[in-house]
Amino acid sequence: MSATDQAQVRRLTISDIARMYADGERIPMLTAYDFPTARILDDARIPMLLVGDSLGQVMLGYDSTVRVTMDEMLHHTRAVARGARRALVVGDMPFLSYSSVDEAIDNAGRFLQDGGAQAVKIEGGVRSARIVEALVKAGIPVQGHIGWTPQSAHGMGGKVKVQGKTREAARGLLSDAISIQEAGAFSIVLELVPEQLAALITSRLKIPTIGIGAGAGCAGQVQVVNDLLGFGDFIPRHAKPYADLKGTIAAAAAAYARDVTNGTVPGPEQTVRMDDSVIDEALGRTAADRASALEFEAGIPLDRDL
Ligand code: KIV
Repeated sequence: MSATDQAQVRRLTISDIARMYADGERIPMLTAYDFPTARILDDARIPMLLVGDSLGQVMLGYDSTVRVTMDEMLHHTRAVARGARRALVVGDMPFLSYSSVDEAIDNAGRFLQDGGAQAVKIEGGVRSARIVEALVKAGIPVQGHIGWTPQSAHGMGGKVKVQGKTREAARGLLSDAISIQEAGAFSIVLELVPEQLAALITSRLKIPTIGIGAGAGCAGQVQVVNDLLGFGDFIPRHAKPYADLKGTIAAAAAAYARDVTNGTVPGPEQTVRMDDSVIDEALGRTAADRASALEFEAGIPLDRDL
């Protein structure tokens, strides 16, 4: 991208997302956690990037998202916001960062002011509506997240499970979605919801639903980028892998180790030489000394020479 093109890149806003939805365009969203990946995804014109708290598991090696802190989220959000010039960057509010309205406004404000995000995501339906409303009133765009909500995993039985499969649960999810829309969210992530229910929720809302494991009837789709790229130990059923980065990286690392071990790397292409006469000057020797030194394969030890 040329410097002029870069200067002309306009950051997408929630109005652009609403326009895409109104125009019937399906909305692709991916997670991103670092500068180079964000830059690549942005150049690939992914319109929304989520700095998900999945960061904890897929990038930091924690066993759950519950361990992720605000400081860690902000650190990675800043990197993504620097990498993405066009995409709307959504910062995922971590566990216990929005337990009260004051705390939520404070932390969401940090995502926008310090992290460089343009919106935040909050888990929970009816139970989070009051917080969503307060944030939206404070001028902070909010994306909801219902269905399977990883931050409540301990309260939801621990085991990752499709949500909304009973009559009561389905009704509960529908009212969760409506309450989050009424609270002013600009979109809602539906995670692990049967496709018919996700399509029904989508048809009842005015804002776009972004599905993950929720079928093709959602207005958009989000995936954890590591799953999409085959960069991890486990790929969930709902993620279609488009690359095998794990295999690619492992093969590249093994090839590098082989080349270093057998002495073929660095080769002439990776090596810088200098004028031999400068070395002669440094050692106080003549070109003839050098020529004779070269006759002894090992050369003249530097300390004796000096
Ligand atoms: O943290 C995350 O990556 C998410 C997505 C799975 C929606 O919340």
